[in-house]
Amino acid sequence: MRNIWLNWVALSILALITVMPASAADTKDETKLKLAHALSSTSHYGAGASAFANSLETISKGKFIVEKFPNNKLGSEHEVIEGLQSGKIDLAVISTSAVMDLIPEIGMFDIPFLMHDLQHARNVLDGSIGKNILSKFPEKGIVALAWGEQGFRHLTNNVRPVLTPEDARGLKIRTPQNSIHVAGFNYIGILPVPMTLTDAVKSLKDGSIDGQENPLSVIIATQMYNMQKYLSLTGHVYAPALILVSSKLYKQLSSTDKKLFQKSGRAACLKMRDFVDDIEKRSLERLRKEGMQVTEVERASFAMAMEPVYTEFYKKFDKRIIDAIPFQRKFQ
Ligand code: PAF
Repeated sequence: MRNIWLNWVALSILALITVMPASAADTKDETKLKLAHALSSTSHYGAGASAFANSLETISKGKFIVEKFPNNKLGSEHEVIEGLQSGKIDLAVISTSAVMDLIPEIGMFDIPFLMHDLQHARNVLDGSIGKNILSKFPEKGIVALAWGEQGFRHLTNNVRPVLTPEDARGLKIRTPQNSIHVAGFNYIGILPVPMTLTDAVKSLKDGSIDGQENPLSVIIATQMYNMQKYLSLTGHVYAPALILVSSKLYKQLSSTDKKLFQKSGRAACLKMRDFVDDIEKRSLERLRKEGMQVTEVERASFAMAMEPVYTEFYKKFDKRIIDAIPFQRKFQ
């Protein structure tokens, strides 16, 4: 009697599973992924993270669900890199400064005045030079799905309008913790103070530093206009970003799923580029309204003043690659 009853229960469960809609059955197999980034959800990082999540969730038909952790919620950018390596974090949209210790060659893109404009930078990243750098990540426990973008970095400060390299001399300026930025600034007499962005915000508020430098996308996202009076459009360095996935996760994916991740990485990259194009068009008006004094500078005078520091970079990086980069402009 007991056996008949057990068989009946088993058959009823089987019947229920058979008539269950595909979506409900899928939720059992859905994989939740953690994606970290340093800025707000409304920033260019947030736009890249959402584009990645929307693409992957759609093309995988809900097999992967991406949970986003903005504003350093999972730790500083350096901690996020460790999290990707250990597998505690699955995905990140992140600056290149965070991976300088792992892939020193990536610092090449921080050489001042190497990139002419956004299109030139995108040609370089999408071409063999950019692809070669992305290919170095797997040996460090991370897979680089695509380049993202922040834009060209500009100088802000609270002391005076900066029009020439001489005007910038003696200013205490926060830089990312990145020796290439420090070398360029040292050369023109700026006093670089490398620290995290979180510490920079505290130091700008307490007046222990005079300024910082970041792309317009970050200046808007961090409401730098509430902390800084003068913005000089130096465009001294192009800042890419990266869309990264933990190798621990990536290795377990089927080849079909790997393609979905790659495709979603590209979607994030394109979204970030659109975001930067848009912010380049609209943000100056907004920043002026917010009270910033915006100054156009002679970029060439800054470039010339920093040129001698290239001797240092030629020792550190492959000179042939540095010298090849200006020629990538012709692919526009
Ligand atoms: O200046 C930096 O450290 C980076 O540009 C930032 C703002 C953290 C974005 O990754």
